[in-house]
Amino acid sequence: MSRSRCSSRVSLMAFIGLFIALFSTESSAAQVPLLMWSSDSLPPLASPAAGHITSNEQLTAYLTSAFGSGPNTVLLFLQDKLSKEDFTVFGGVFGNKQDSAFQNLEAALQSSPSSVKLPALEWSDSSATLALLQEKLDVSPVLVDADTLSHLSINTSASNLLLINLPYCTGFDKSCKQVLHDNDENIGKVLTVMKDKNVPYTAIYTGLQPSRVISETSMSNQPAGRSLLQAVEPSVKPPIMYNLSGNPCIMLWAQNLNISLTSTSEWIDLAAETPSLAGSFCNSSYSLLVLTYTSGHILSFSMSRRLYSVSARYWFTLDSVQLQSNGRTASFIGKRNIYAPAEYSFHCQSVTSFRDALLVPTNADQNTTQWRLNFIDLQIQGFGLANGTDFSYASDCAGFFTAGIWMGLLTSLLMLYIFMYGMHMIMQLNTMDRFDDPKGPSISVPQTE
Ligand SMILES: *[C@@H]1O[C@H](CO)[C@@H](O)[C@H](O)[C@H]1NC(C)=O
Ligand SMILES: *[C@@H]1O[C@H](CO)[C@@H](O)[C@H](O)[C@H]1NC(C)=O
Ligand SMILES: *[C@@H]1O[C@H](CO)[C@@H](O)[C@H](O)[C@H]1NC(C)=O
Ligand SMILES: *[C@@H]1O[C@H](CO)[C@@H](O)[C@H](O)[C@H]1NC(C)=O
Ligand SMILES: *[C@@H]1O[C@H](CO)[C@@H](O)[C@H](O)[C@H]1NC(C)=O
Ligand SMILES: *[C@@H]1O[C@H](CO)[C@@H](O)[C@H](O)[C@H]1NC(C)=O
Repeated sequence: MSRSRCSSRVSLMAFIGLFIALFSTESSAAQVPLLMWSSDSLPPLASPAAGHITSNEQLTAYLTSAFGSGPNTVLLFLQDKLSKEDFTVFGGVFGNKQDSAFQNLEAALQSSPSSVKLPALEWSDSSATLALLQEKLDVSPVLVDADTLSHLSINTSASNLLLINLPYCTGFDKSCKQVLHDNDENIGKVLTVMKDKNVPYTAIYTGLQPSRVISETSMSNQPAGRSLLQAVEPSVKPPIMYNLSGNPCIMLWAQNLNISLTSTSEWIDLAAETPSLAGSFCNSSYSLLVLTYTSGHILSFSMSRRLYSVSARYWFTLDSVQLQSNGRTASFIGKRNIYAPAEYSFHCQSVTSFRDALLVPTNADQNTTQWRLNFIDLQIQGFGLANGTDFSYASDCAGFFTAGIWMGLLTSLLMLYIFMYGMHMIMQLNTMDRFDDPKGPSISVPQTE
């Protein structure tokens, strides 16, 4: 008993430690997106540079110019959680309107005379945006929904801050897409009420906190770390770089580019060889990186850059990876989660064609069904390198909870449960009242030892 209790306590500590670790990394470099639109015009905002994180000072300065001195009515749609990835994951494939969870938001952005989109606003604590607006408008927020708003009379000769809280999926009741869709309906209703009231307004849609933080934590130590490592430690190999007319246009770095052509899983690590880049190509909407190895293997990555209407920005997708060997070709298409904002790089700790497949084989050629890819610590960028010889901020493919974290979490919970069960059993122990009952059956005390 004491040993199991002790180990439970150890895992409880591990469990707490894990959470502290998660939350401390979260606050280090997290961001939320912010969308802002107005029924009047907004001052222009210099479009954020590639992979740029907007600081709170920049937002403060912008809001100061946007709100000027006169009275303003501001609608703040504050969702419990929001990250830029929500727009691509739930925004409909390639901006397909019917499929989007943000139809009203999209319509509002399109129909308003001006809008501002900040994909990555520095996030430090949940109350920052609200506090900032409160300070700029010099009023207290009024919590409303579409219903109460329709009964509210808005005095336009003073500033108003109307707060609409929106939930984020908790994973228990509705699907994330459904929750975001319902939120979007709410936004639509509120905007209709404002239109009916004929009150000019500025609306802001943002998150109380990020919904995904893994890319931020990887950002803080990935690209910077890699270039630092390059400077300090010559053993880290440089990235593969394809230049078009002297300017870098595709970059790839990988710890291992393992391929296997047989069922025996003999891995060949192509990252150990230096390829020729002949046949590579890039323009503003399409990039193809062809790596031809002296061992006879040809590995090619094709990427494209498209406009997703809801986030009104370009995103790049890793569309397919092809492997050619001995005159045969196997193609693998990237599942939809291989994407990144076009100015960013894409990073993935593990890209495989078999285990939690990010790459799915497409051609039905019987001769290549056993071909497999296993890339470790892959980082690729096909657009927006401009003048840089460094990867931009990395968008990470990993979910917030990786398999490792899940395993640790579940084990800890199980141990905690066992511990609680043990405690419960101990609490249930009573002195036997039958000692006091002479009429009851006699007690037999088993002779154990
Ligand atoms: C509207 O607000 C202004 C400024 O605070 C105030 O002078 C005016 O009385 C208000 N009007 C109504 C109808 O409340
Ligand atoms: C590509 O351009 C970068 C920066 O201009 C340079 O450092 C690099 O050596 C070039 N690579 C090739 C293969 O020309
Ligand atoms: C990839 O290949 C290298 C060299 O063959 C090997 O050392 C490494 O363990 C392989 N990695 C994986 C994940 O298969
Ligand atoms: C980029 O190249 C692709 C493939 O060659 C072509 O279809 C596309 O039109 C090109 N785009 C631009 C903007 O040049
Ligand atoms: C597969 O391999 C066999 C024998 O090597 C060959 O005869 C056949 O044409 C190949 N099939 C394809 C689709 O390449
Ligand atoms: C690239 O270089 C040009 C001039 O050499 C400069 O004007 C431009 O701002 C640079 N772009 C980036 C993204 O650094």
